[in-house]
Amino acid sequence: MQRIGLGLIGCGGIARSAHLPAMGQLVDHVALLATADTDLSAAEAAAAPWGATAHTDYRAVLARPDIQAVVVATPEYLHAEQVCAAAAAGKHVLCEKPIAPSLAEADRMIAACAAAGVHLLIGHSRRFTRRYMEIRAAVDRGEIGEVRLFRENERRPRGIPQIWWTPRHWTGNPQVSGGAPMMNAIHETDLMRWFIGQEARSVTAEVNTTIEGNVGVIDFISLTVRFANGAIGSAEVLNCAPPGYPAFHQLEMYGTAGAIRARDHELTGLTRFGDTGADYPGHYEMLLHNLPAYARELAELVEAIREARPVKLPASEARAALEIALAAVRSAHLGQAVELGR
Ligand SMILES: NC(=O)c1ccc[n+]([C@@H]2O[C@H](COP(=O)([O-])OP(=O)(O)OC[C@H]3O[C@@H](n4cnc5c(N)ncnc54)[C@H](O)[C@@H]3O)[C@@H](O)[C@H]2O)c1
Repeated sequence: MQRIGLGLIGCGGIARSAHLPAMGQLVDHVALLATADTDLSAAEAAAAPWGATAHTDYRAVLARPDIQAVVVATPEYLHAEQVCAAAAAGKHVLCEKPIAPSLAEADRMIAACAAAGVHLLIGHSRRFTRRYMEIRAAVDRGEIGEVRLFRENERRPRGIPQIWWTPRHWTGNPQVSGGAPMMNAIHETDLMRWFIGQEARSVTAEVNTTIEGNVGVIDFISLTVRFANGAIGSAEVLNCAPPGYPAFHQLEMYGTAGAIRARDHELTGLTRFGDTGADYPGHYEMLLHNLPAYARELAELVEAIREARPVKLPASEARAALEIALAAVRSAHLGQAVELGR
């Protein structure tokens, strides 16, 4: 079967750690033909194993007629421009989450892809993570009855060297970074909608900045969402834990007939201490966030292209997750609940 020609726009952290390995896992189905990053060395490093061409301008990727689909893995403030340009060039798109920083941009992206007749799959990778898929199947089988409370806590370390969430990296620039609500809590707002199966009606939240050098980017958020059927979704995310702190997710779900609990950090039993602090070998095998999810995500786009059917995760779902996350930030700033969908 003909392999699908791929382009990669943005060759930074998530491209290196997730999308390039995912392409490698699907080598019989996809071929990376061109990459783009404003940092040419990043584009070249991503391109080299595939013999792909490397560019600093993403439009050079979109100009290639042999490329059918692009993976957009740039910061979210670039998604609308790049996804709309990809659609205009007739390319299918797998774009990282969050779909965009604003609902207006999300709407433009969805409309542009629909008008061009190309797929837009937003990389809500947790939807493709085995453990969440298993939990979802258990909920669908009615094992815990109707979900009344969904709660997830997430912790992320700052990393070494520590440039993220400081002005030395886009994540630390309040002009372009949505901080923890956009980087992390967008997953939680998506998951709570998915598991509760209802639309959000109101959101209450608190946010904070916690680390020295942070010039105003939210790195902690606690949010509570009331859904149309009265169910509650709750999440608490800190993404500036000290370097070496184990990344983890902790999920609890209570239904009318039972409960489900899943905790990553039970897996991080091995701790190694070195010159750079503590590390946790194997913590990327976390149950709730892991690499095979990205291969499943890409495979979904490939199958949708081959079968000429809509992607199973419509971009409207990513928009709905964004709406809740944006309302949460508004709630924190206003100091009151924000109503949704009325
Ligand atoms: N699905 C997940 O679990 C997950 C995890 C991490 C990040 N993300 C998302 O992925 C996106 C990228 O995050 P990251 O962690 O890889 O950031 P990053 O800073 O590590 O990488 C971004 C890359 O984009 C490049 N870039 C910047 N401007 C560009 C432009 N105009 N054209 C082409 N390339 C450009 C940068 O040089 C950099 O290499 C964000 O939207 C983030 O929310 C998703």
